[in-house]
Amino acid sequence: MCMVKVWVEKLLDEPELYILRLDDSEIKHFEAAWSIPEGITYNAYLMKVGDAVVLFDTWKGEYTEKFLESLSTLVDPKEITHIIVHHTEPDHSGALPKLLELNEYRAKLIGTTFAKNLLQGFYGDKVVENFHTIKDGEEVKIGNRTFRFITVPWLHWPDTMITYDVEDKLIFSCDAGGGYGIPEAIDDSDEDVVKKYLPYVTKYIVTVIGHYHKYIVQNIKKLKELGIIENANMILPGHGLIWRKSPTRIFEHYERVGAGIPTKDKVLVIYDSMYGFVEKRMSVVIEELKRYGKKPVVYRFTDKENPAISDILGEVPDSEALVIGVSTYEADIHPRMRCALYEILDKANYEKPVLIVGAFGWGGVAGKKVETLISRSKFELVDVVETKGRMTSEDEERLREAVRKLIQWQL
Ligand SMILES: Cc1cc2nc3c(=O)[nH]c(=O)nc-3n(C[C@H](O)[C@H](O)[C@H](O)COP(=O)(O)O)c2cc1C
Ligand SMILES: [Fe+2]
Ligand SMILES: [Fe+2]
Repeated sequence: MCMVKVWVEKLLDEPELYILRLDDSEIKHFEAAWSIPEGITYNAYLMKVGDAVVLFDTWKGEYTEKFLESLSTLVDPKEITHIIVHHTEPDHSGALPKLLELNEYRAKLIGTTFAKNLLQGFYGDKVVENFHTIKDGEEVKIGNRTFRFITVPWLHWPDTMITYDVEDKLIFSCDAGGGYGIPEAIDDSDEDVVKKYLPYVTKYIVTVIGHYHKYIVQNIKKLKELGIIENANMILPGHGLIWRKSPTRIFEHYERVGAGIPTKDKVLVIYDSMYGFVEKRMSVVIEELKRYGKKPVVYRFTDKENPAISDILGEVPDSEALVIGVSTYEADIHPRMRCALYEILDKANYEKPVLIVGAFGWGGVAGKKVETLISRSKFELVDVVETKGRMTSEDEERLREAVRKLIQWQL
């Protein structure tokens, strides 16, 4: 039996606004890629305003029945007059086809041209028969409210837009402003809940939107220039917490992650070690980092540990620097580190200094391969210390020297 929790809660009396939130505690890998034992929520919103009933997004397809059941506690699906499609990824649009069927295709859909095109591709022609495509910044009067639609391309797809309710100063932001995790509350009023949630937001940003992280900064700049963020009464995302105690906070967090602003002294150390040769070197690196007051955060692939790449990705944006330790494996980088590096360079490619440490048996290749990857990325190569077999005292001295070089590297 499906045990996921559903929340249907009233957020405002005037306009009458509700959240419909499903806590997906059954998911294991978001987008079939990112390990999220912390789960995720899908948030849809319903507004009754004048003679209109407006729905903002839906839930993931596998929860369609639950969505329709929850929605029916608030309104007869036939009465929905408008459906705002912020983003067509099926974690938000999955329940839409069945809902439209029950709605007898009365509701007008509103979204970008891209969204219309994608919906039609996913669900067929009938779903987009009554689709109004908006232009960036277009305002539409619905009920007695004015909704302004603002495109935020690549947050998370090219189809994506947000809605600004002009009179009530509400921002419906879908993926932008979202995070992983299943917070025990609906909004940000409890600081303990927020503190626990924010690292999951970072992990979400990097794994889901990280490839386009420069667009995070660009789009938030655009929203700021429109003057809608600082005066917003609420930010209502498609995942995770609603922001109403401090609405600006979530976009400030997004900006920091997008720009890769470091937490003081945090150095991310990632390595593999099959038989302890790399490990020995890394313990010297870690000791030396600590001697200089740095706070190493360590992830290792060993015969006992296999950290999730999604967790490692979430640690990159606020690190001051990275240290990567690799063993050579069949004339290549160790397989687990190969995967981790591939994802870091794709999703978390930031201008941060990197020190590479390597160990090999008969011909060092891994360190050189990592060096090539790093030099083609935005990361800055500080040094490569790749040596054979057990760590000698000369190796140790070279490692300590390399760490000092890393620390002096404009940190
Ligand atoms: C499956 C396997 C493949 C390896 N392939 C290579 C190789 O192609 N070239 C090399 O120089 N050493 C190779 N080695 C040796 C390791 O790189 C070397 O022992 C290194 O010090 C291992 O460090 P670690 O114990 O921290 O993993 C291989 C070792 C294993 C177990
Ligand atoms: Fe998305
Ligand atoms: Fe999403």
